[in-house]
Amino acid sequence: MKKIILTGDRPTGRLHLGHYVGSLKRRVELQNSGEFDKVFIMIADAQALTDNADNPEKIRQNIIEVALDYLSCGLDPEKSTIFIQSQISELTELTFYYMDLVTVQRLQRNPTVKQEIQLRGFAENNDAGDNRPGIPVGFFCYPISQAADITAFKATTVPVGEDQEPMIEQTREIVRKFNSVYAPVLVEPDILLPDNNACRRLPGTDGKAKMSKSLGNCIYLSDCEEDVRKKVMSMYTDPLHVQVSDPGHVEGNTVFTYLDAFCCPDHFSEFWPEYASLDELKDHYRRGGLGDVKIKKFLNSVLQCQLAPIRERRKELEKDIPYVYDVLRKGSEQAREVAARTLSEVKHAMRIDYFDDEELMRSQALKFKAE
Ligand code: TRP
Repeated sequence: MKKIILTGDRPTGRLHLGHYVGSLKRRVELQNSGEFDKVFIMIADAQALTDNADNPEKIRQNIIEVALDYLSCGLDPEKSTIFIQSQISELTELTFYYMDLVTVQRLQRNPTVKQEIQLRGFAENNDAGDNRPGIPVGFFCYPISQAADITAFKATTVPVGEDQEPMIEQTREIVRKFNSVYAPVLVEPDILLPDNNACRRLPGTDGKAKMSKSLGNCIYLSDCEEDVRKKVMSMYTDPLHVQVSDPGHVEGNTVFTYLDAFCCPDHFSEFWPEYASLDELKDHYRRGGLGDVKIKKFLNSVLQCQLAPIRERRKELEKDIPYVYDVLRKGSEQAREVAARTLSEVKHAMRIDYFDDEELMRSQALKFKAE
């Protein structure tokens, strides 16, 4: 069986370090590994609109930002098909048919949907006096649309963060249901999680659980050198580590979480040869006598050396925006062909391909003749 990757991002803002370690970096490695027959990378604008109906301009502006981030990280349009979700109308059609295979109750149980409803402050019930906005139906159903994204390309592998696990599980259920009710057309995908724990959910610079634009705790891939430095130097560390001589805590200390995610042994020989490894550095910090500023400076060097080439490529790409749109247009055309093939198999399996079905016309003609 062919090995196919599909993954994507909502274009609600520029991409940040959380996206980078959580998935972008891995995607580029997977793309270059030669292990996959096809790699599809989708800008999920239609999904972003499910809770941004009143702000299409934001989504529109961020499509190009996300595309620039993709290309500057090393996604290569020669190797990966990069496309825009809304341009593949087959995906909406598939979504509508999959809706017949999922219950409202099952969607209500989806932990990611539940959590996001809370996060966005939507009212869940019809309680009188609750003035919060209700849940948009499109938003509620986005796990089904995500199943369409994945299955349209017969993806076997979906590299995403762990918050997406319930989406992949729901997709697998839809695939099993479809294949058993109609015909074995769809492929059950596997999730591919980041292997390093610190990469699974990178906290914000303020130590809060997640980098998020609304919290203002992100380091963006497109931030300039000075902005990255300032953000690193003001990062949350260990509140109990007041004097340099105090013993410090490494767990829950954002600077160390970032080092876990970004640092490799070579960084020590290059920037801080007094230590041979992160473990040695952690031991010293725990014993006391190691100041936060020194570690932040080291982290800054580690981050800058990974961000510098990305930043440079972005500068070059920004000079040729028509090229970037061209990549997206070509990618969308290619993606559409693949999705159209799957959709026609789906319609055939569901027996709603009436005009391709000679046998149907013949048997109906006979039936009415007999009457
Ligand atoms: N829900 C994903 C996110 O918020 C984006 C997405 C949409 C996606 N469709 C997908 C990811 C299909 C993987 C596969 O990041």
